[in-house]
Amino acid sequence: MSRDRTMRRTRIALIVTAGAMLATAAATAQQDADTAPATVKQVMQTMTEPSSEVIFTAASEPPKDQQQWEAVRKSAVVLAESGRLLMTGGRAKDNTTWMEMARALVNQAEATLKAAEAKNSDALSKAGDDVYLTCETCHARYMDTGR
Ligand code: HEC
Repeated sequence: MSRDRTMRRTRIALIVTAGAMLATAAATAQQDADTAPATVKQVMQTMTEPSSEVIFTAASEPPKDQQQWEAVRKSAVVLAESGRLLMTGGRAKDNTTWMEMARALVNQAEATLKAAEAKNSDALSKAGDDVYLTCETCHARYMDTGR
């Protein structure tokens, strides 16, 4: 075997090994990203806030058609789920008041869902008020105010 060919083989082997190592590192990083639970902030930003926005708007100005009621219904499902997320995945700040407030959010979102299904704008308005109070109460207690 010529010296040139040996060197080329060695180089190819090195490249293949490096490639495999990179692939493994990438797979590990990918896995970490996949399994890391969303933070409280991420849940607020992506679920709690947008879904409650739809509900607050509808609570002050009742839905006019099927499509708008449907939007409220879907938002109530998302809001309830965001409340459940606050109780799990290491997001709870304590095992008492935090859990009560997250539970209240879930219950009020469920009440919103019922109101939307019944197309009951009075019940929707009340549920919206209750939800709002829970946001405020929890933030007053747990949100970092030093920002
Ligand atoms: C169980 C407690 C709890 C409830 C209930 C709650 N929040 Fe939050 N929320 C927090 C905490 C804690 C933070 C601060 C998160 C952080 O900065 O790490 C926060 C942050 C936020 C933020 C700021 C996110 C950012 O960009 O920094 C918004 C917006 C928000 N909440 C909206 C709402 C709304 C709207 C509701 C009611 C529908 C609600 N939250 C209900 C605990 C709660």
